[in-house]
Amino acid sequence: MPIAPADLIPAPADVVPLFVTEVYRTNFGGTALDPLIDRLDAGARRLAAADTAGQAWSDRNGYLGYTSYDSFDIVTDAGPEFADLTALLDVHVMIYAQLLEMDLRGKAPRMTRSWVNVLHPGGAHGGHVHPHSIVSGTLYLSVPDGASALQFEDPRHTRMMHAPMRRPSARADRQPVMAMAPARGTLMLWESWLRHEVPTNRAGEERISISFNYDL
Ligand SMILES: [Fe+2]
Repeated sequence: MPIAPADLIPAPADVVPLFVTEVYRTNFGGTALDPLIDRLDAGARRLAAADTAGQAWSDRNGYLGYTSYDSFDIVTDAGPEFADLTALLDVHVMIYAQLLEMDLRGKAPRMTRSWVNVLHPGGAHGGHVHPHSIVSGTLYLSVPDGASALQFEDPRHTRMMHAPMRRPSARADRQPVMAMAPARGTLMLWESWLRHEVPTNRAGEERISISFNYDL
């Protein structure tokens, strides 16, 4: 007796998400932290104008704009607003680590690097990961119209020997590449192994952000 087609699926199956990549996103614009965004924006511009070593490094390395990546280990020392930033990020990195149920072995993640980025129109930053840290992120201070999003890649790319692409309308968590557009005041956190890039800044003005690494 053949099985009737209607009986082939006697109960709905589960699709179980495994090895999920989780990105943390929040926005401080219009909150009690809004003034801190302005202070950090001014501090970042001040640093970009004053840090001649960072300007020279950016020129030498083809960074279209300014980054303090090589001239300061941590920008906390560059002004009181940056110390406030560290205190703020300490809290959010801990929340993210708790949401991801990381076993922190009783320790609090601490900032190991932070750097200011002033990306000029036409500037970009190719795909990369952040070694020697567990959580990385960026706080966005100036995001003019047309400014680059932050683009994440599925970390399983190297194993996708014969996997079909997903439809453009597929859910965000099924896309192989996902661009997340920040606004002024957006904070994004991700695990440091997650490869990401900043496509070309198509805004007519500078896109300003502060990036950072945390480790145990
Ligand atoms: Fe990065």
